[in-house]
Amino acid sequence: MAKFSVSAPPLRQALAWLITLVALTPCAFGQLSTQDHLSDPGFWPTQPGVSRSDYTGPEACRQCHAEKFAAQARTAMRRTAFNADLSQPLHEHPKLTFEVGPYHYLIETDAHHSLYTVTDGKQTLSSPLLWAFGTPRVGQSYLFKRADGHFYEARVTYFATLKTLGFTPSRDLLHPKDIEQAMDRQVPDSEVKRCFSCHTTAAVIDGQFDEQHLIPGVTCEDCHGPGARHVADMKKLMNGDFSAERNDIFNSGHLDPNDAVDFCGACHGTWWDVKLSGTTGPSTTRSAPYRLVESKCWGKYGDSRLVCTACHDPHQPLVTDDASYDHACLRCHNTTMNAALTPEHPGKACPVGKRDCASCHMPKVYVKEMHADFTDHRIRIVHPGEPFPE
Ligand code: HEC
Ligand code: HEC
Ligand code: HEC
Ligand code: HEC
Ligand code: HEC
Ligand code: HEC
Ligand code: HEC
Repeated sequence: MAKFSVSAPPLRQALAWLITLVALTPCAFGQLSTQDHLSDPGFWPTQPGVSRSDYTGPEACRQCHAEKFAAQARTAMRRTAFNADLSQPLHEHPKLTFEVGPYHYLIETDAHHSLYTVTDGKQTLSSPLLWAFGTPRVGQSYLFKRADGHFYEARVTYFATLKTLGFTPSRDLLHPKDIEQAMDRQVPDSEVKRCFSCHTTAAVIDGQFDEQHLIPGVTCEDCHGPGARHVADMKKLMNGDFSAERNDIFNSGHLDPNDAVDFCGACHGTWWDVKLSGTTGPSTTRSAPYRLVESKCWGKYGDSRLVCTACHDPHQPLVTDDASYDHACLRCHNTTMNAALTPEHPGKACPVGKRDCASCHMPKVYVKEMHADFTDHRIRIVHPGEPFPE
């Protein structure tokens, strides 16, 4: 389920869009597409690596950043891709089935592996599953290889809300032309690189997909860049060698608000990534960066009090208690009605609620193809019955 991918040259396309859109849309200021960020010098998430030896893996960071290591290990991001043999939902449901027309889908799991089978009664195809993507907080999709060495994406995905299989998002096919098409979709090599760049670490080295040495899951070096030099420098420093370089690892905490949001958007989809992909409607709520910058709270030029890390610590599992987000709103919003608006508190007080702000102003939106709700990061007054605000 590739998110918001674009195939045309993004910079040129972005410029064309710019001409038509910027005049109409007040909220595109400062945002860039991920392709544009990647073409700038310096580190950016999903950037291909130069040499595998520049990466250490998260274990090497543990020695000096033990707390961050322990917390990050429990996040959904860290656990978002792994060998299909280790899939929890597949082990919990050793026999999963799905039927569409003449086609019968089956994933059977024993202690050692999962076998994916599709039959129409006349022909039967089977393949062992290789990779599982998704925690599954929402769902889990599977990749496998055929004898031709190419990657294929199973036509079926496990959904947490259904507790069984459904069509892989955006891949539903009611009338496949043959059993092969019913079973899977071949994933082009360029897309394989993109999937693994968002769900694993050090997947693409020197332009080549490196399946043997990649690190499954989103780990430290996905967000901080290759760490071998930092580890070596810090070891020197700790041994009293003060000639060691200090600014040798990327810290996105120093970015301006628009770049900070685009930074997470490298995987979660920036405003431009979503626009260029043509995605509209409730599905856009899968991209928090896109929806967030459409909020009135974001203003025209962005605000560091509303970047992703104002509400989420990317080293910690997602907090699901609404009251924990109130502090972020109250950094800008007043608590007494009709209080004067100041640069410190540019937001009005709420006439209705004093706590759990997100429960009313960041509504859950049902995304059909995911069979799940996503949190709308476009902060707003919700009017019952209104159509989805684009
Ligand atoms: C040998 C100890 C050591 C190891 C191993 C280590 N770090 Fe660090 N790290 C430090 C120290 C010490 C600092 C503070 C440096 C300073 O203030 O100049 C630091 C700072 C950082 C910063 C903040 C940098 C800044 O400019 O704000 C980040 C991000 C970071 N480390 C990430 C990592 C990652 C990722 C790894 C694993 C690839 C790692 N560290 C491994 C010791 C270590
Ligand atoms: C290298 C790609 C990548 C980057 C960069 C990235 N994310 Fe994620 N993020 C993911 C993926 C993949 C998932 C889905 C995890 C799953 O399988 O449920 C995810 C899930 C999440 C979740 C929800 C799940 C949870 O429990 O943690 C939050 C919150 C989140 N990301 C916040 C952030 C923030 C904030 C940033 C920027 C500081 C960021 N992400 C940057 C790839 C990324
Ligand atoms: C541009 C980065 C990007 C690419 C490319 C990408 N993903 Fe994701 N994927 C994400 C992020 C971020 C999330 C979490 C937000 C969401 O659910 O949309 C996610 C969510 C998922 C989930 C749901 C996990 C959950 O429980 O939340 C699955 C399954 C998944 N991706 C599989 C894939 C597969 C398979 C591919 C390639 C065919 C792929 N993704 C390509 C970034 C990406
Ligand atoms: C999804 C992206 C993401 C991942 C994965 C990630 N970080 Fe970070 N990290 C950030 C961001 C963003 C900041 C800046 C936070 C801020 O300024 O509020 C940061 C800041 C830091 C800092 C410096 C600031 C501080 O709080 O001390 C250190 C050290 C650090 N991270 C270490 C790690 C280590 C070690 C890992 C792996 C175990 C890791 N990070 C994984 C995004 C990430
Ligand atoms: C003002 C606070 C706030 C900011 C800023 C914010 N989030 Fe969230 N986010 C939330 C809340 C609240 C939830 C819902 C938590 C729950 O499950 O109850 C959430 C949930 C999520 C999820 C889980 C999937 C979902 O839709 O429920 C992801 C992924 C996520 N945020 C990513 C991001 C990213 C990336 C950014 C920056 C563009 C960001 N968030 C900025 C408050 C915020
Ligand atoms: C960076 C400061 C800032 C933060 C953080 C912030 N807001 Fe706002 N918010 C504003 C400003 C300024 C306005 C008025 C914008 C305008 O009228 O153009 C606003 C407007 C609103 C509105 C009215 C929107 C409308 O459609 O008229 C609501 C509701 C709201 N905020 C709720 C929240 C909630 C809930 C949070 C936390 C989840 C939050 N805000 C976080 C600054 C902020
Ligand atoms: C129970 C649901 C609920 C909760 C909780 C809630 N609000 Fe509201 N809020 C509303 C509704 C409904 C309105 C629209 C009221 C109207 O138009 O008369 C509103 C209006 C607002 C406005 C617009 C005020 C104006 O005069 O234009 C802001 C800003 C706001 N809320 C911020 C917040 C903040 C910050 C919190 C948390 C401290 C919060 N809200 C908690 C339901 C809620």
